[in-house]
Amino acid sequence: KSIKVYAPATVANVVCGFDILGFAVNEPGDELIMDLCDKPGVVISSIEGDGGKLPLDADRNTVAAGVKSILKQLGREDIGVKLKLKKKMPLGSGLGSSAASSVAGIFAINELLDRPLSKEELLPFAMEGEALACGHGHADNVAPALFGGFTLIKSYEPLEVIALPVPNLYCALLYPHVDVPTRDARQIIRSKVLLKDAVTQWGNIAGLISALYLGDYDLLGRCMKDVIVEPIRSMLIPEFYKMKEIAMHHGALGFGISGSGPTVFSLFRSPDDAQRVLLTLQQVLLDKGIASNIYLS
Ligand code: HSE
Repeated sequence: KSIKVYAPATVANVVCGFDILGFAVNEPGDELIMDLCDKPGVVISSIEGDGGKLPLDADRNTVAAGVKSILKQLGREDIGVKLKLKKKMPLGSGLGSSAASSVAGIFAINELLDRPLSKEELLPFAMEGEALACGHGHADNVAPALFGGFTLIKSYEPLEVIALPVPNLYCALLYPHVDVPTRDARQIIRSKVLLKDAVTQWGNIAGLISALYLGDYDLLGRCMKDVIVEPIRSMLIPEFYKMKEIAMHHGALGFGISGSGPTVFSLFRSPDDAQRVLLTLQQVLLDKGIASNIYLS
């Protein structure tokens, strides 16, 4: 038995929803071919597109770790699984690369075993993969990669995820070729927040969720503000405020850091505006000697 699956990149945080909000995009994403075989155990037979950076060791790779846990939980460690992963997105980019691989693995094994687990039940296994990749088992990338669309992590303990309505939107992603490891980007955030900042932030997050339900684009734009994380993390991203100003000036509803960066994203109502802004921002970085990848969903 064999299956080929695709797991999409995801934009976590969505500006004001640190660790609780995320959405999936059409591309980039990871492709995984999974084969069942006679010899028990999980083996990664090949990884392409990672520049040789990811370990083939099944215990250290997010694509296999969740598969192993699921087989253990189901008491099916007699099963043999072979994996071929094609990374079709950059690693360490803030696009949820480890989450996509993790979700591809757990989704594929669940399908091959005729769906013994629901998507809700699969989620904790995907989070294990995240913990392996960046030291923290947040769910704001794995949840949208698994469910699609926008998702809200209502709580971590107990884990409760809400799938949100998705208005018609275009997402412009720009990945500058600079290094911002998630571990580091998490460490620089202050662990305490001022009450006045918290009030601003929860007003924005509540407004953003309302905007998705109401399909109110203006409200969505007014709520894409972050007074807690962005002011700090933006320092790690070249030309962040200049890019933001250009995007907002050319029709973006909002602009922010995708996950922990360095990728930045903006949301648009028109694909033409999104494309124009992407090309302009790419040139802004090129003028500073920084190359980038751009994606439009
Ligand atoms: N919510 C996580 C963070 C996402 O911002 O650190 C990491 O991709």
